[in-house]
Amino acid sequence: MTDSFQEHAGSSAPEMPPLVRPPVPDQVHTQGDAVHLPFQRRQDETSPTPAEELALLDEPDQPVELVAAGEPLGPTGRPMPVIPEPRPLATHGNARVISMCNQKGGVGKTTTTINLGASLVEYGRKVLLVDFDPQGSLSVGLGLNPHEIELTVYNLLMQKEVTLHDVVVPTGVPGMDLLPSNIDLAAAEVQLVHEVGREQTLQRALAPAMDEYDVILIDCQPSLGLLTVNALTASQGVIVPLECEYFALRGVALLKTTIDKVRERLNPALEIDGVLGTMFDGRTLHSREVMQRLVEAWGDKVFHTVIRRTVKFSDSTVAGEPITTYAATSQGADSYRMLAREVLARCLDG
Ligand SMILES: Nc1ncnc2c1ncn2[C@@H]1O[C@H](COP(=O)(O)OP(=O)(O)OP(=O)(O)O)[C@@H](O)[C@H]1O
Ligand SMILES: [Mg+2]
Repeated sequence: MTDSFQEHAGSSAPEMPPLVRPPVPDQVHTQGDAVHLPFQRRQDETSPTPAEELALLDEPDQPVELVAAGEPLGPTGRPMPVIPEPRPLATHGNARVISMCNQKGGVGKTTTTINLGASLVEYGRKVLLVDFDPQGSLSVGLGLNPHEIELTVYNLLMQKEVTLHDVVVPTGVPGMDLLPSNIDLAAAEVQLVHEVGREQTLQRALAPAMDEYDVILIDCQPSLGLLTVNALTASQGVIVPLECEYFALRGVALLKTTIDKVRERLNPALEIDGVLGTMFDGRTLHSREVMQRLVEAWGDKVFHTVIRRTVKFSDSTVAGEPITTYAATSQGADSYRMLAREVLARCLDG
């Protein structure tokens, strides 16, 4: 069965139809004499050149824009709901396991795992992060040296005598722990193929953490192979980070098929908690159009929160800490706090 997943890993699926710009309808928002749609280029607006788009990326932070300028709409083009303040927790446990999953590389899976985790901690949740990528980016992004990690998720999966508590390490964020990884994990993907119950290996390994944490976030590698199937089998929810760039939409159908197969064959409880637009730039027509396509394809599954493009994320990775502590008052930090509120309202506090 796993072979059927692996067969498709990295290939392209029936893709979404090409993007078609909408015609101008008769009844649209008016602003003075000007008539425009949120995603339609205004008459006085010209597309920035690639050089201008690059220059825009270096503009200083602006406050999180929940309502687009002049429009009663959020950055996804839909009305922005009021997201309630998360309720405080009296006790911890009964964790929800959520995988960050997209077989496309560099879309913000690891960045979202670190910063959503740190934001959930700010709302009083106890969080375990699982680095489930042999690249070990999550561990490095939290300041660990991959060559100095003694025990990793690999040992937890492959050695019966190694317990979860042997492998868990605290992070610089009190209340957020980490199961670290390094390149050793690549071997697990090969070795597990011969195991009975190979798809449930991570689920079994995480069982002792379920009563201790409120949220367990699994950072998947960019593939749909056996490790990712393990992550999806161990999860109740999936968050799909998607870069707001047209090619990022390719392969999404395959990801959805994989999630559906895991739900049918291995884990009936699996739900898509949400699709997260990352590296968004609301000042470019392109980003807004991609967001529009996401909403057309995924409807309410698209988070109202979007993560804008900013170099602060790379800077915080170099510093080995979440943006919520590295640049606590930045727009990026506020966006992840807003995402944490949305995740809590949607699938944890509901
Ligand atoms: N909103 C953002 N704005 C600008 N840069 C970002 C943003 N989010 C992530 N990045 C940067 O993009 C790069 C890729 O991000 P990240 O590692 O989170 O992606 P990923 O999906 O985990 O990649 P991989 O598939 O290789 O694991 C990193 O250098 C990160 O700092
Ligand atoms: Mg990653």
